[in-house]
Amino acid sequence: MTIRPILIHPEPKLRKKALPVTVVSDQLLTLADDMLETMYEAPGIGLAAPQVGALIRLIVLDCNHSEDQNLDAIQMFNPEVLFASDEKNTHEEGCLSIPDQYGEVERSSVVTVRWIDRAGIEEQRTFEGLWATCVQHEIDHLNGKLFIDYLTPLRRQLITRKMKKLKREKLQE
Ligand code: NI
Repeated sequence: MTIRPILIHPEPKLRKKALPVTVVSDQLLTLADDMLETMYEAPGIGLAAPQVGALIRLIVLDCNHSEDQNLDAIQMFNPEVLFASDEKNTHEEGCLSIPDQYGEVERSSVVTVRWIDRAGIEEQRTFEGLWATCVQHEIDHLNGKLFIDYLTPLRRQLITRKMKKLKREKLQE
């Protein structure tokens, strides 16, 4: 498996709508495995394909801190929210594409998601707690949306400015 470079905001690919997967090809399975590896290495609890430059509807997540990596990992192709509760929950969120920045985001506390698994089989599950937050955050990525979009414009501008500076510094390294 390969660790893939994670795109840092602001970046046009993070703002595009990703395309649905038609066939779960070997190439896509490799991408999904690489994404998990990249996520664990970062470390993070979720990663969406656009964050590694692939405009495909694919996300990976693992919100359990189990010692056995991959035990609770989920790879979702074409994830779709079927139900989102009116009841909300506020979590402090971060993003691997916006390193070291956090903000409180309100989202549905319970969501039911349908997706296609590695074998091409349709699956459906209801998530709550951190998993619910995480899966909604990752699906947002597939629609070009970032957690900072839920913050005040001022806070968003501040974070974006910091990220631009970070990217400039990285280029000079
Ligand atoms: Ni993110």
